[in-house]
Amino acid sequence: AFTAGVDVDWEAAFPGGSTPRTVDLPTYAFQRQRYWATATGGVGDVGAAGLQRVEHPLLRAAVGLADGGLVLTGRVSATSGDGWLGDHVVAGASLMPGAALVEWALRAADETGCGGIEELVLHMPLVLPESGGLRVQIVVGGAAEDGRREVRVHSRPDRDAGPGADPDWVTHAEGVLSPSAASAAPSAAEEPVGVWPPEGAKPLDVEDFYEHAAAAGYAYGPSFQGVRAVWRDGADLLAEVALPEAAGDADGFGIHPALLDAALHPMLLAADVESADDGGMRLPFAWNGVSLWATEATTVRVRLSPHQDGTAGERGVRVVVADGMGDPVLTVESLTMRPADPRQLRSMGGHGVDGLFTLDWIPMPDVPDADASATMGWAVLGEDALHLAEEPGPGGGGVVRHPGLEALVAALDDGTPPPAFAVTHLPADGGSAEAGAVARAADGLAAVGRALELAQGWLAEPRLADARLVVVTRGAVSTGDPDESGDSGDGELNAAAAGLWGLLRSAQAEHPDRFVLLDLHQATDPAADGVADAVLRAVRADEPQVALRTGGLMVPRLMRARVTDSADETESGGLTPAGLDPDGTVLITGGTGLLGGLVAEHLVRTWQVKHLVLVSRRGSDAPGAPELAERLSDLGAQVRIAAVDVTDADAVADAVAGVDSAHPLTGVIHAAGLLDDAVVTSQTREQVARVWAAKATAAAHLHTATADLPLRMFVTFSSAAGVVGNAGQAGYAAANAFVDALVARRRALGLPGTSLAWGLWEQASEMTGHVGQADLTRLRGMRPLASERGLALLDAACRCANPLMVAVDFDPAGVAGEDLPAVLRGLVS
Ligand SMILES: NC(=O)c1ccc[n+]([C@@H]2O[C@H](COP(=O)([O-])OP(=O)(O)OC[C@H]3O[C@@H](n4cnc5c(N)ncnc54)[C@H](OP(=O)(O)O)[C@@H]3O)[C@@H](O)[C@H]2O)c1
Repeated sequence: AFTAGVDVDWEAAFPGGSTPRTVDLPTYAFQRQRYWATATGGVGDVGAAGLQRVEHPLLRAAVGLADGGLVLTGRVSATSGDGWLGDHVVAGASLMPGAALVEWALRAADETGCGGIEELVLHMPLVLPESGGLRVQIVVGGAAEDGRREVRVHSRPDRDAGPGADPDWVTHAEGVLSPSAASAAPSAAEEPVGVWPPEGAKPLDVEDFYEHAAAAGYAYGPSFQGVRAVWRDGADLLAEVALPEAAGDADGFGIHPALLDAALHPMLLAADVESADDGGMRLPFAWNGVSLWATEATTVRVRLSPHQDGTAGERGVRVVVADGMGDPVLTVESLTMRPADPRQLRSMGGHGVDGLFTLDWIPMPDVPDADASATMGWAVLGEDALHLAEEPGPGGGGVVRHPGLEALVAALDDGTPPPAFAVTHLPADGGSAEAGAVARAADGLAAVGRALELAQGWLAEPRLADARLVVVTRGAVSTGDPDESGDSGDGELNAAAAGLWGLLRSAQAEHPDRFVLLDLHQATDPAADGVADAVLRAVRADEPQVALRTGGLMVPRLMRARVTDSADETESGGLTPAGLDPDGTVLITGGTGLLGGLVAEHLVRTWQVKHLVLVSRRGSDAPGAPELAERLSDLGAQVRIAAVDVTDADAVADAVAGVDSAHPLTGVIHAAGLLDDAVVTSQTREQVARVWAAKATAAAHLHTATADLPLRMFVTFSSAAGVVGNAGQAGYAAANAFVDALVARRRALGLPGTSLAWGLWEQASEMTGHVGQADLTRLRGMRPLASERGLALLDAACRCANPLMVAVDFDPAGVAGEDLPAVLRGLVS
């Protein structure tokens, strides 16, 4: 009765005035002896392999590293662990519960003599594949002077790869183990001892909870349905949770992940019952101060005490888990739950494509409130379109307006102190909505030229070395999927301004902390304070590129791409990846270049394309062109190679009009391009114009010349440089960013379009032959693509719905320790 929480009258048991009291029994973590043979998947003689056997149901072996670190290894699949892992299905994906990753880190702490987890941040959900399994590694670094150790959780598909060819590791979580207990033991007030539930706690109905949860996308199978009772106690939630039989026994776990996961379900239940929530899906994101006080618990009492919510929809709670006697089992100082994107989860469960990424815009991670008055010294360069210089100015500090950079420099000469921020509005006039793509390309080039001169002037002035130039654009980026009303909140995308973003991304890569890109909605003016606040918050969060929308500040992140169901249907319909009619003609610009030629051959071999027009300036005179034509003919294709300069609108129109009407144009691949690299301080307008013409203007010509044709495919070969911003390639990045935006506009108009932003290909082309080792190190974790791989990514990209696909082999290890561009932060810690 006592263990169930009933107030016992001890007088009856201890008559005669003796005063009984409860004494603490020791609860040693991980001190146990097993006498039963474990029927497991067989680990074999790991000792013979120099490993150490680990008594853990999922992590079977460890290897101590010579440098003092440790690696725990194991294998997980939806059917491992007696199948209980497959019972955790969120948004249609078999997701490894965050509780399991924490339990692994706790085991890693124990194996390395640490007392708990100081922090564990989950970056990337660990989705179990539909078939096969994943190898997992918990990697613990050597102890720092203060005894703390770094810890990381990685996985990769469980297929054989030779030593040294183990490429696909993904980092899911990262954190720090603390030498001593990471959180305080529960205080008397929060300890779930004595009367249970405490007086005044109000029971919540748990009857149909798991059915409701399933309807909301959390399909917990029997192994995870551990909630027995829930109460509300003031702001806190209390619960009684038991490890379901289906989850197997708790032996070997510090705390069974199914039990710990269920301990968090009351948050979901409370949100559901009280309908106070927005219904959005949340998953554990950051665990701080986690201590395990006793192991292998099976029935627990839980107290969840909410603390402050983050602005980006985050929820924080302190978690206390105790056993049936009220003795502590596990404490978490702070667990932050974060909104999760169900589409991303779904895409990772077998539909994700390695090497393909989309550029997603997410709410900016939370930073402490910016105090505008903390940073004085704002200037406006040029027209004050945002009314910043009007009273009272950011922080009430007053803003000085200068007609341009020269005027600011003149003011410096007169003794004015340099500002901390100079804001300039660059209206890359995209013209009216009716203005054609070619006019937009011209406007874009002019804007890029002006921005280049401004950036060069800014970087040339040593007195501005500590100042940031804030370049404000409108509608240069598209931040979101359209909502139900078809409005993405972006207004119309301004392709001309997009080029300017490409240019300045490269300038940022070359000169960190000197430029901030801020994009506003096309038509809505934020308050002047809103702009200053956005800039300060972006700088604090080390986010050099932000978009201010009605929903708040958004930042760009590369995310793993997903293949859509509709594209799968296309595939099962027997058509080629892009749904091309094999009787139609495909036009490839730059068709006699490296990628153009490879793609032409690939289209004929695997897409069954039979009619091709390949154009370049040299046409048949290009090196290798006759041999290419011969190979394609041998494969049964009809090929015409023509000398066409795609910077010439009439020439492009003629090439399109010249397509044999018996085999009408069905697809365009724009692979023409050239490089003229230089760092931003020495790049000339002429260099930019050359690169722009072959890429951006040519794309506009192709768009215009084919606008009335029923194309099934319009693919532009752009570059990761435009998205990530490569040092030394500002002009090239600008042209590619314009092309990406042009394709996005095509899609908004209901026309087909995919812009494929390639990373570097392994095979050298005329364009890339000069890329040396020094350039490779600039590629920030992107490995060159082998041709076969690139072509496979082309196929996969054509099955994806997103207008912009970034195709790169990204190696997180390649950027470890580097100053990672913010846009890659979603892929690495
Ligand atoms: N290879 C890579 O690693 C890589 C990476 C990222 C992006 N890309 C993109 O992929 C595309 C192909 O690159 P690549 O490596 O295959 O380079 P490439 O072998 O040099 O091919 C470029 C082609 O473009 C043609 N071209 C250039 N200016 C032209 C114009 N004004 N009119 C018509 N054709 C023109 C060139 O032929 P002519 O000189 O005879 O005109 C050549 O056939 C480029 O757009 C590039 O930006 C490549």
